[in-house]
Amino acid sequence: MAVPARVYAVANQKGGVGKTTTAVNVGACLAEAGERVLLIDLDPQGNATSGLGVRANGASTHDLLDGIALASLAKPSGFHNLDLVAAKTDLAAAAVDLSTREGGERYLAEALESSLEPYSFVFLDCPPSFGPLTVNALAAASRALVPVQAEYFALEGLSQLLGTVNLVQARLNPDLEVAGILLTMADGRTRLTADVESELRGHFGELVFTTTVPRSVRLAEAPSHGLPAIAYDRRSAGAQAYWKVAMELVERS
Ligand SMILES: Nc1ncnc2c1ncn2[C@@H]1O[C@H](COP(=O)(O)OP(=O)(O)O)[C@@H](O)[C@H]1O
Ligand SMILES: [Mg+2]
Repeated sequence: MAVPARVYAVANQKGGVGKTTTAVNVGACLAEAGERVLLIDLDPQGNATSGLGVRANGASTHDLLDGIALASLAKPSGFHNLDLVAAKTDLAAAAVDLSTREGGERYLAEALESSLEPYSFVFLDCPPSFGPLTVNALAAASRALVPVQAEYFALEGLSQLLGTVNLVQARLNPDLEVAGILLTMADGRTRLTADVESELRGHFGELVFTTTVPRSVRLAEAPSHGLPAIAYDRRSAGAQAYWKVAMELVERS
């Protein structure tokens, strides 16, 4: 029997902390390592979708939440072994819908149940809020993967997020655990990054990934070319860091 897919919700209620960059690049690294990977864009802004050079004109995540079968919605991303369910702006309306429906927190979990067979890893790229889309992702995931930007107030909000994870675990999804906290946009030369990192490791110990993702212009440029960093500039520090993160994720799972 096939090993069940591992489903990661890439979540943080703050915007701009590296959720999409992490979902796309960890997904792409695992795909390159030979795993079958599915990325589901759960953000109405559709950054994971456009960052892979895909235009969502047809099927999208909204349809998945409406009960259309995953198999007809997941499309090749253009990067080998990596499939994508794209997001369009109409996902914002779907989110409002979800919040008004009975049992609306589990729509995604039900949509994914028993349809993940082709995949070994699934990444859910969450929007920057605690809204119904993020709750759906946490209810559907086996692990939460939490990127944290190296900045002041990085830890503010993190305990709130971990509280939400605990709540979802208690109420909706007993299997949910934290896969790890990933420090992103680290600048090794600054005191700020060193302080944030030591504070993170001090508070959360082994939950924090050993690897940190450096601030890297290549990582920021890659989406405008519609490519994951390993396809855009494999030797860049950012691409190499995400490769290590992917390997660490496998070890941790
Ligand atoms: N390590 C990094 N170095 C430089 N730029 C980054 C890095 N990670 C993300 N970015 C850029 O920062 C912005 C926010 O990242 P993104 O992954 O979209 O965050 P989120 O999904 O949490 O909102 C994007 O423009 C992205 O390209
Ligand atoms: Mg994003």
